[in-house]
Amino acid sequence: MTAPVALRWAGDAAGHLEILDQTKLPARLEWLACRDVETVVEAIKSLRVRGAPAIGIAGAYGLVVAAAEAVRAGLPPDEALAHVLARGEELASARPTAVNLRWAVERSLGKLAALAADAPAAALAQALLAEARAIHAEDERLCAAIGRHGAAVLPAGNVLTHCNTGALATGGIGTALGVITTAWERGRRFEVFADETRPLFQGARLTAWELVERGIPVTVLCDSAAGHLLATGRIAACIVGADRITANGDTANKIGTYSLAVLAAAHGVPFYVAAPSSTFDLALATGADIPIEERGPAEVLAPLGVPAAPAGAKAFNPAFDVTPARLIRAIITEHGVIDPVTSARIAAVLGGR
Ligand code: MRU
Repeated sequence: MTAPVALRWAGDAAGHLEILDQTKLPARLEWLACRDVETVVEAIKSLRVRGAPAIGIAGAYGLVVAAAEAVRAGLPPDEALAHVLARGEELASARPTAVNLRWAVERSLGKLAALAADAPAAALAQALLAEARAIHAEDERLCAAIGRHGAAVLPAGNVLTHCNTGALATGGIGTALGVITTAWERGRRFEVFADETRPLFQGARLTAWELVERGIPVTVLCDSAAGHLLATGRIAACIVGADRITANGDTANKIGTYSLAVLAAAHGVPFYVAAPSSTFDLALATGADIPIEERGPAEVLAPLGVPAAPAGAKAFNPAFDVTPARLIRAIITEHGVIDPVTSARIAAVLGGR
């Protein structure tokens, strides 16, 4: 089977964005048509589309939806531009941790500077669609390059991963999961262990689904079983994705990643991060500067909608945590492998990205 697609644009610049609703997976494959920005923002906030690169692509297409709104409302050029900029801020701030979202929105908006000051809304929509398509296609290429670089360094043996970093999370084959599937397609044989990834179960619902669809053996474990699994010596490497990587290599990723990195270090298992250069935020010195999204209590108190705690209990629900660079063996990017993970090496590998 070919990799699933997380999102796609339907039609020309007056068309709409279609998002594969990941909250319904693996039970149902349902596409959500987004004809207004409100629907795109809601889809990002509620993780119908998720994963750092994929929400960046959704943000870029969301701007086209904003320009199409301006066309339908018959807004004059100045009001159309103001509308797109205001909607752009709503999109960019829909989720705070993955830097790819704001990066993609700002990159697309930057393209509008080349247009005449009195460019009509339809011209804005066309320019924004061209840029969203470019970001989408570029991410597909970056994923393939990350897969190639990563497959070359991934040690032989079973791998343990966290959250979902596959086709559902990107515009291509994925980052960490793309490394795993590339290694598999090159003939390497191993078993993939996938943390279920509470509270939203991206590992169990999405990673396991992608791997089962591809015929790659996958075993799902409770996040709390990872320490015991590593202690058995059955895991050769851990590999995860990233939502934001700072100048020193500190890495924000799905909650539970930091615990896994500590456990991997305790058991001498190498811990890899795979991410495109768009996930690096070199303006931030360390992970302490990364905004960590806090989500509502229902996800923890009633997982998958089933009440699991008494009424009156409170919840602690950070969506991400920060893994210090010292716990990361190497970071795999489209430009090559950052090893060791130091500020100097990051700057050298990313160069003039
Ligand atoms: O809350 P999510 O599901 O958007 O979190 C996703 C992750 O943490 C991924 O590991 C990360 O975005 C990398 S996706 C290639």
